[in-house]
Order: sequence, then C-alpha cells, then structure tokens
Amino acid sequence: MKVDVLLGTQWGDEGKGKIVDVLTPSYDVIARFQGGPNAGHSLEFNGMRHVLHTIPSGIFHSDSLNIIGNGVVLDPVVFKKEIDKLKELGVDARKNLVISKKAHLILPTHRIIDAASEAAKGKEKIGSTLKGIGPTYMDKTGRNGMRVGDIISPEFLNKYKYLTEKHENILKHYDYDYSLLDFEQGWFEGIELIREFKLVDSEYLMNDLISEGKKILAEGAQGTLLDIDFGTYPFVTSSNTVCAGACNGLGFAPGKIARVMGIFKAYCTRVGSGPFTSELLDEDGIKLQKMGHEFGSTTGRPRRCGWLDLVALKYAVMINGINELIMTKADVLDSFDSIKLASHYLVNGEKTAFFPYSIEGDVKPVYKEFKGWKVDITGIRTYNELPEELKNYISFIEQETGVPVKIVSVGPDREQTIFR
Ligand code: GDP
Ligand code: IMO
Ligand code: MG
Repeated sequence: MKVDVLLGTQWGDEGKGKIVDVLTPSYDVIARFQGGPNAGHSLEFNGMRHVLHTIPSGIFHSDSLNIIGNGVVLDPVVFKKEIDKLKELGVDARKNLVISKKAHLILPTHRIIDAASEAAKGKEKIGSTLKGIGPTYMDKTGRNGMRVGDIISPEFLNKYKYLTEKHENILKHYDYDYSLLDFEQGWFEGIELIREFKLVDSEYLMNDLISEGKKILAEGAQGTLLDIDFGTYPFVTSSNTVCAGACNGLGFAPGKIARVMGIFKAYCTRVGSGPFTSELLDEDGIKLQKMGHEFGSTTGRPRRCGWLDLVALKYAVMINGINELIMTKADVLDSFDSIKLASHYLVNGEKTAFFPYSIEGDVKPVYKEFKGWKVDITGIRTYNELPEELKNYISFIEQETGVPVKIVSVGPDREQTIFR
C-alpha cells in the first residue's frame, strides 16, 4: 500500500487537524513529518475541542498507530503537557504513539534564542510562535543538534550541557534577560516521559508498514506558503512543509506516495508577519475573523484574514502534486452578499497568474466576484444539498486548478463534513 499525504496549501491553520481526525478511521497509521509545537491542530467531537501540537491528529482513535517522524522537532515540555491532557481525557498515548529516534529535540535555550532573536529584529520580526523552531532546525542543519535517540546515550547529559553552553555564549550577543532554571526542570521531566515511549527507526517502521499493506496518512503541519524553500521567505517556518517533506520527514521514497490531499480555507488567513496579497483590512476582514473565530490555536494571536488566493493555490497544487483538494470553513462565508477570490496578481502593473519570487512591494490582487449563498450550511451533510452559489464557487476553483474538491467542511465538528 502507498502513503497518502495531507498538507496545508496556505499559511497554515487550514483545518488539517479536523480533517485528519475525520479521515483516521480509513487509515491504520497517522504520521507527522515536520514542524513541531509551532503547529496547533484542532479537533472537535462530542462537544469538546482539542488542540494538538506535536502529537499526530489520529491519537483519539485507539486502533490507529501514530508516528512522530524524524522531520519533527520535539519539545519535551510541550510534549508532556499534551500527554498529560490526553491522560485526563482517558487517552493513554503510550499504547499507540511512537517517536522517531532521529527527531530533533528543542532545548530550553532554543526557545530562549528564538525569543531573543525575534526581539532583536524589532519591526522586522518573523512573528515566530517562539517555540524554538528556527534555532532547533538551525542546529539540525548545522550538525550540532540533539536527537531523541540521544536520551538513551550515557553521553546525554554531557551533550546537553555542551550545547546549552554554546547557546549561552550566543545569547551573550543579545540584550536579553532570561533564566534557564525556569525552563530546565520541566524539560528534564519531559525527557523522563519520552523514555516511557517506544523510540523507533521510523524509516524502517514506515517501509515495513508499507510492505505489510497498511494504509498510511502523512500529516503535514503549517502550509505551503510557510515552506522554507517555496514560502514567502523570510516570513516562513524552518522546515519543508510541502509534499516532498513527507519523504524526508518519515523516510520513504517519493514513488510510495499515492494521494496528495491539499487543504484550503474557502478564504485565507495568516498569523504572524509577512506579505499577504489578498489581505482585507476593511470590514469584510473583520467579519471573516469574527465569523471564523480566527485566533491562533498555539499563540492565541488574531489571524489576519482575506479572500481566497487562487494564484497561491495553483502554485501549491503544482509544488505538491496535489490530486485532491479539501475546502474547509465554507460556512464562514454564509452571511456574505458577495465573495471574492484573487484570480490573478498585478505585479508592477502587469497581470499574471504566476506566484512571483516575492509578493512584497507592488503586488495587487485582481478579484473575481461571486454571489453569496446567504444560507446556513452548517447542518448540510450531502453535496447536492449545498446552495448553487457555493457549488459555482467550488466548480470555478476546480476548473482553474484542474483538481477535484473531494471534501467540503461546513463546521468544526467531525460530523460537519461532506464527502463527494
Ligand atoms: P490546522 O492547524 O490546519 O489544524 O487548523 P487549526 O486547528 O489551527 O485552525 C482551524 C480552525 O478552524 C479550528 O478552530 C477548527 O476547529 C476550525 N474549523 C475547521 N474546519 C472548520 C469548518 O469547516 N468550519 C468552521 N467554522 N470551523 C472549522
Ligand atoms: P499549523 O500546523 C499558522 C507561522 C508563525 C510565523 C511563522 C514562523 O497549526 O497550521 P515559527 O514558530 O515556525 O518560527 O513561525 O510561521 N506559523 C504558523 N502559522 N499555523 C501554523 O501551524 C504555524 N506554524 C508557524 O506565525 O509567522
Ligand atoms: Mg493551526
């Protein structure tokens, strides 16, 4: 059996957590391939809302195996909080969650450097979630990092001290007050908890599972426009959020990929700094934020809102080889008289359908307008029952991208999902 990949096509928060949870009953394995606690994946069922950061969104289905892949960066403090919360809900993750030995550890000093570096950037800051993501991936590519597998080494403490000292030297260059003691105890408690989990060679495990014919879903974090190579650099995260990242982040070959599911909101949001061509700074933007409850799942920051960016969506389809699209939050548009999408850009006055090298500067959206449907769709469960205006909007997106929209989500709950 091959691996299916589900990933974000925008700037994250497209509803990946909800959809992975909904799809999990059709899979044996859910595997996270990149990112870390910068992610906040929300799931809703039985009237409860859950937010996962590093744990794959299949965890609530006890018969699915969940894998944290080598491409993920793991903060023991956040991990422990997540596991403790699950325990309160009666979920013992030790039974169906395994962790790659090659996943990198976020140290307390990684978080401190993230904060110090952002503070030093002032107005130019990335708007990082301050979870230590950038500094941890820097140590990974700089070949200084610590991996989960190191925790069973007799050299573990020495390695920790060595790297922490190195970081403290770096911190001397910043005018930034911190206390390591505030962080360290919780970190070592988290390490003890990680020891209770099965630590695996996820590349062998993945390939064995593929050979055994298991159905596997690779769960992405963030979104294509936050990809380190293809996103709106430098306002991006530090990992490959695109489809190829699934191979690197789990250890299987590109030929093993089957379906590539690209998820997008019926409009668009961004949290943190950076350009956003179809951003709305008017009443419509405020309305989208209010109707969509657009506040970050990880940081609580308000998300910037705007119309759907088709130029970026087509780019995401190309980069990822998306062969199925999933539209979420269509219900958020229920009360709008008219809906727009950016079909093209004007770059220095010239109309284009290409996503340019940079979307900073003189880049403006060219909108196509659609009639709103003005009905509550949150209770609809079949595609045919959806209002014609919404179906027209979806058909246009399908035509332009050349990819079918297979799922339409009409509310945050598991049940509020329409399959075609
Ligand atoms: P993720 O990071 O991609 O998993 O997305 P987040 O969980 O950060 O943000 C998506 C938010 O939208 C969450 O609060 C979800 O509960 C919510 N959500 C997901 N799908 C829908 C939908 O179809 N309609 C509405 N109204 N909310 C949704
Ligand atoms: P999920 O998986 C939305 C954004 C941050 C910031 C930039 C870099 O929930 O979709 P980082 O902490 O990675 O150094 O921040 O990326 N960002 C996200 N935005 N959803 C996410 O994850 C994000 N993870 C990071 O706001 O602009
Ligand atoms: Mg999120």
